[in-house]
Amino acid sequence: MINKEMEKAINDQINAELYSAYLYLSMSAYFESISLKGFANWMRVQAMEEQTHVKRFYDYLLDRGGRVILSEIKAPPVEWDSPLAAFEHLLEHEQHVTSLINNLVDLAIRLKDHATNSFLKWFVDEQVEEEASADEIIQSLRLNENNPGGLFLIDKDLAQRTFVPPQDITI
Ligand code: FEO
Repeated sequence: MINKEMEKAINDQINAELYSAYLYLSMSAYFESISLKGFANWMRVQAMEEQTHVKRFYDYLLDRGGRVILSEIKAPPVEWDSPLAAFEHLLEHEQHVTSLINNLVDLAIRLKDHATNSFLKWFVDEQVEEEASADEIIQSLRLNENNPGGLFLIDKDLAQRTFVPPQDITI
């Protein structure tokens, strides 16, 4: 049976992951509104990935005999000044999520909850990837800030991203 403090912290993280999905879907809608379909696709896939993060925490809590409590998700912003501003926001948000995951690891260590500490390793590694991929796109956008042709090529590239359902969780 999972510790009540950890149960509450994981429920809070489920809310944070749901907000991430909501934020990226809102960014996808923003990119649709400015006719950047490839960017919109990338954000849509990102939102789907966030939903798999929700499922990981959800299933883990059930496996440990915990109770899933869903709570209100705050509304995300709907406009950004530019594609670069949206991706800078995404990176800032992922850095915040990384700090939340690190706090969960700290709590697992304090509670001597070895199972949760082991479970969280996947998220620690995932955050490294999430921040790196956002940073890579930010660098490309900065290089092409005054180059519409470059933006078009980035859009074509981001259109290639597809959602790959993870094999180890039920969607
Ligand atoms: Fe679920 Fe992008 O962190």
